[in-house]
Amino acid sequence: MRIALLGGTGDIGEGLALRFARDTDHEILIGSRDPEKARDAADAYVQAIESDCPGGEPTVKGFANEMAADRADVVVLAVPPYHVGDTVEAVAEKLDADSILVSPAVGMKGDEDGLHYHPPGTGSVTALVAQRAPDDVPIVGAFHNLAAAKLSNLEADLDVDTLVVGDDASAKETVRRLATEIDGLRALDAGPIANAPEVESVTPLVINVARYNEDMRDVGVRFH
Ligand SMILES: NC(=O)c1ccc[n+]([C@@H]2O[C@H](COP(=O)([O-])OP(=O)(O)OC[C@H]3O[C@@H](n4cnc5c(N)ncnc54)[C@H](OP(=O)(O)O)[C@@H]3O)[C@@H](O)[C@H]2O)c1
Repeated sequence: MRIALLGGTGDIGEGLALRFARDTDHEILIGSRDPEKARDAADAYVQAIESDCPGGEPTVKGFANEMAADRADVVVLAVPPYHVGDTVEAVAEKLDADSILVSPAVGMKGDEDGLHYHPPGTGSVTALVAQRAPDDVPIVGAFHNLAAAKLSNLEADLDVDTLVVGDDASAKETVRRLATEIDGLRALDAGPIANAPEVESVTPLVINVARYNEDMRDVGVRFH
């Protein structure tokens, strides 16, 4: 399968690229507004994985976001929440009913106490993606509550869950299975897009817990 990470030059894009490329056989397409930046990032990720897994042959390539979306089966919107809508529109004509569009984005506002969930008027970023994407493109929310730094540290055991939401059962199951292919990551079904606010709002919670508790970094969640 081909997995595009739009904005894959950034923090969560790097983490997902490294983990997918190291732990699975899928082809990883790094997207950027600047294709040269995408190619540089892709080369750096391959180098990082090769030193971690000598003999491995990860496939990570860089493209402009539009080209990455055009070539991919699964397209992850790894861009800041307030630019997700514009990014969806930039690639919309490259998507169709056979694509799956994945949102890991969470709107947050910070103050002196910590971070607070700050969703858009649609109720969640996942719902905003569903509103802005072409009607026939299945939308899935996933990867919201993962710490990018932990993903990017390939020596770290993940031992965390990610919650997956979506209205298209088949697309949701595809993303859930893909996520589970990353070592140490379990993907749980959290229901339809209507449940995305609850899932997204866990992200400021885990960041605040890391801030207020000594020796806790890159906190994640595990459901028992
Ligand atoms: N960081 C985390 O630990 C984490 C964890 C879970 C979920 N998330 C979510 O994942 C998303 C990305 O987070 P991040 O921390 O990876 O963000 P980031 O590093 O700040 O940015 C990611 C990429 O977004 C692109 N970008 C920046 N401004 C843009 C704009 N105006 N329009 C379109 N693209 C733009 C950039 O790529 P180019 O310049 O190459 O285009 C950048 O490298 C966010 O929505 C966040 O809520 C983050």
